[in-house]
Amino acid sequence: MSRTVMMADNSMKRYEQVIHYLMVRIEAGEWVEQEKLPSVRSLSELLGVHRLTVFKAYQELKQRGIVYVRDKSGYYVSPAKPLSDTDQGDDPSVSAWLHWDTLDRVQSLEAEYQFSKSLIDPALLPNRYWGELMRDLLDQYPRLLGTYSTIQGDLELRTSLASHLTAKERFYLSSDEVLITSGAQQAIDVISRALVKPGDRVLIERPTYGPAMEIFRKQGARLVFTDIHPEGYDLEQIEHLMKTEKPRLFYMTPTFQNPTGISISVEQRKQLPELAEQYGCFLVEDDSTYDIYFKEKPPAPIFTYDTSGHTLYIRSYSKYVVPGLRIAAIMCRSHLMAGLQAIKALTDNGSPLLNQKLFLRYFQSDRMHQHLSKLRTALQLRMEVMEQCLLETDWTWTRPEGGLNIWADLPEGIDTGRLLHQSMEHSIAFVPGTVFDPSHASGSRKLRLSFSYAREQQIREGMDRLITLAARS
Ligand SMILES: Cc1ncc(COP(=O)(O)O)c(C=O)c1O
Repeated sequence: MSRTVMMADNSMKRYEQVIHYLMVRIEAGEWVEQEKLPSVRSLSELLGVHRLTVFKAYQELKQRGIVYVRDKSGYYVSPAKPLSDTDQGDDPSVSAWLHWDTLDRVQSLEAEYQFSKSLIDPALLPNRYWGELMRDLLDQYPRLLGTYSTIQGDLELRTSLASHLTAKERFYLSSDEVLITSGAQQAIDVISRALVKPGDRVLIERPTYGPAMEIFRKQGARLVFTDIHPEGYDLEQIEHLMKTEKPRLFYMTPTFQNPTGISISVEQRKQLPELAEQYGCFLVEDDSTYDIYFKEKPPAPIFTYDTSGHTLYIRSYSKYVVPGLRIAAIMCRSHLMAGLQAIKALTDNGSPLLNQKLFLRYFQSDRMHQHLSKLRTALQLRMEVMEQCLLETDWTWTRPEGGLNIWADLPEGIDTGRLLHQSMEHSIAFVPGTVFDPSHASGSRKLRLSFSYAREQQIREGMDRLITLAARS
């Protein structure tokens, strides 16, 4: 088995690794519906595992409806169809491969040179000021800790968000069209559970935010990919996929995309809602780093161009405003809100009120806007330091105009999964491309380097060592 596949989780059983190997390739379109899959014998030789291991993996995939058997001929990719109730995600063999190669596993690696965490260095955040706000808040509302929030979220916060976004970014929202969640991650999960049923197609960018793929897979969706390029999407391809695959939704991060940093043009932002309306496909616009721009403010979100109510907009203030509070929101037109609220109720009956009220005080203060402005400058400096280091290499990348990451492409022959193994011996962490790009052929030469967590000196030292290691491998 390729060493990258083996790397991500050595605690994982071998047949689960084989399942993962097959799944990512089926989703990436290497084998299409009704196509014959490799025989048990050839796959066992290719991956260096016992034939019984491959057999077991195929049996599991057969049970899940992903493959089927033709007598005496072998295993084939099943046509997409709704899975039966018994095929759904509670089966441990289904969820087991989800833990493979995931962002959280890579991000949990402890390292001195930390380029895997796309989080803000806590030293760049106004921790002391938040402590003061917290004390004032509890003085003002002594019963705050004894109270639940409503499921949809604190009305005062929803009103404030709706009016801020309407005044500053032309959202034209009311408080009824906002649902507060605990982070963007929960927002994706709530949307997925509210809108996607097993067997549905979900259109998704490639590369994309890895955990989103896992959330939709866990819901039983079949992923359909569309590549994102420095110029944005291929809208003709998207239209074709909407027509032929009829995806339930298109999950996208069109502003400072994670991991590539790409933002799409105003033109594409206008056209996407039209396509969504024409083909009855929801757009899930995940905007987790909208305020982290280095030069110009990015174009208005797709949501603001949508006149038919097909866009669900996720805005997270968790990453760069107050990470510990995990405040994010889903904004959508009211016909979708009841379904989302029902799922949010099942999830946690509403996000903690203390977090919402504290965030609100900060959101309404001038301090937040001053903080954002300083943060943009500090992050731009770190990005430039990292870029300076990369100028010494023959790697390729597109300079991000915002966000927290650089997405780099290494020369032929370097496998970034293997490189991570080596770099961890030198306490340098980054995320290998396959976490975001399931097609092994292109993902394995790429890596995501976050410049937001390590300090400038650490960036210089760590990058220097990483580049030396890559040159030797
Ligand atoms: C595109 C994207 N969506 C969602 C999330 C999760 O964000 P949160 O911390 O708000 O849950 C992240 C975090 O990296 C992200 O990059």
